[in-house]
Amino acid sequence: MATAAVTAISAAHEAAVAATLGRASGVRLVRRCADVADLLAICTAGRADVALVSADFHGLDRSAIGTLRDAGVGIVGVHQPGVEDEQRVLQQWGVRTQLPITAVPADFAQAVQAVSEGAAATAAPPDATDGPTVSLEAELAALSDDGAPYVPANPWLEQPVALPASPPPAAAQETAKIVTVWGPAGAPGRTVLAVNLAAEAARLGVPTVLVDADTYAASVAQHLALLDEAPGVAAATRLADSGHLDVRALAAVAPEVTPGLRVLSGLPRADRWPEIRDDALEAVLEQCRQLGRLIVIDVAAPLEQDEELSYDTTAPRRNAATLAALGAADTVIAVGSADPVGLQRLVRGLDELRGVISEQPWVVANRVRSSAVGSSPEQRVSEALQRFAGVSSPAIIPDDRAALDGALLAGRVLAEHAAGSAARKAIAQLAADLTGVSAATRRGRWGRHRDPAR
Ligand SMILES: Nc1ncnc2c1ncn2[C@@H]1O[C@H](COP(=O)(O)OP(=O)(O)O)[C@@H](O)[C@H]1O
Ligand SMILES: [Mg+2]
Repeated sequence: MATAAVTAISAAHEAAVAATLGRASGVRLVRRCADVADLLAICTAGRADVALVSADFHGLDRSAIGTLRDAGVGIVGVHQPGVEDEQRVLQQWGVRTQLPITAVPADFAQAVQAVSEGAAATAAPPDATDGPTVSLEAELAALSDDGAPYVPANPWLEQPVALPASPPPAAAQETAKIVTVWGPAGAPGRTVLAVNLAAEAARLGVPTVLVDADTYAASVAQHLALLDEAPGVAAATRLADSGHLDVRALAAVAPEVTPGLRVLSGLPRADRWPEIRDDALEAVLEQCRQLGRLIVIDVAAPLEQDEELSYDTTAPRRNAATLAALGAADTVIAVGSADPVGLQRLVRGLDELRGVISEQPWVVANRVRSSAVGSSPEQRVSEALQRFAGVSSPAIIPDDRAALDGALLAGRVLAEHAAGSAARKAIAQLAADLTGVSAATRRGRWGRHRDPAR
């Protein structure tokens, strides 16, 4: 049976491609779409096996491509011969099967056949940069090649794993690590922890990108006294949607605020949450891996998968950013406030979190103080978490109101504002455990990372 194809190609070239498709054997052109709504309607109705798209088709973006994929539609990208920008946008959308509009009918037939069989879809994750016609991979590799491979420590070992003394074999790929800082409702200190962990890691010589993906109450910018109108995560996801996100574009919207610390600030207004779609955020996080060795993400508390409440699976979901950040994480930190209410929320939250991530989170009890739980608060909190959530040895951050209030007022991190404070010491230790780098060994290979945006 012939493969049902639709076109979503800009007006200037659509007729030529349609004519070629008409001569391609095994292909039945069922619709020449006028706009994206038309394309999505026919594809989600299950009437097309393959869509042929061009990067300049009006309104086409990463989300639309994602919707086509979710509908099981194979995608072939077409571009003007030699126009690299069009190829690059398609590539960034994860469209790996591409043809020039001048290709012969047999080539179109072959490409349509290949994607409809899902061959291209299973070859690699959407953002792999191994496309046949685009030199983006080479470009990025050149940018990030600093000859300093990083072998991630096993985050689940009790003891931090030191970086190897001798360079690992060339086959050991450098990978940036994503740490998502989550916590249940009630302001347990997610942002304080994310901001200060990122700052401490940067001070240890680990190039770090801090991402504010809290779609309810973004506040990283405030903690660091950054301008509200900093472009940040909304601009980055917009670039990802339009297919124009590369490491340089990302660097431009994620300024370096202190040496080694770049910040992608959050939404200035919570009602803009639909701007952060999960597939675009995932693409941004993938690019962040080119910009730093550690990515720290601050997220909101709710974990419900609200698409189950709605039949419209293409609609943006309020908690998509949190779920995407948790899904992308190599390590999840679950932080709770160490008072009776906060601990109960943390215990329940850990249970909920188990439905979302497969690895064990690192558990942090924050604001530990005797006035809330009685004498020997560290021990009491640890025992409670062991007993009710099976958590052994949670990290403990003491309540340190003077230091935290002062830092927030000054818009500075603890390391700058209250370097000797108890809270800072606890967070610095956590950063050392997470990265496997201690202050004494900081001149290790992390420090030789060259900022690719420079
Ligand atoms: N260890 C701590 N000691 C004292 N105050 C803290 C501590 N951690 C966080 N706070 C305070 O708690 C409040 C909420 O912290 P924040 O990180 O913004 O919470 P969340 O991001 O979880 O909503 C802030 O005023 C912050 O200064
Ligand atoms: Mg917060």
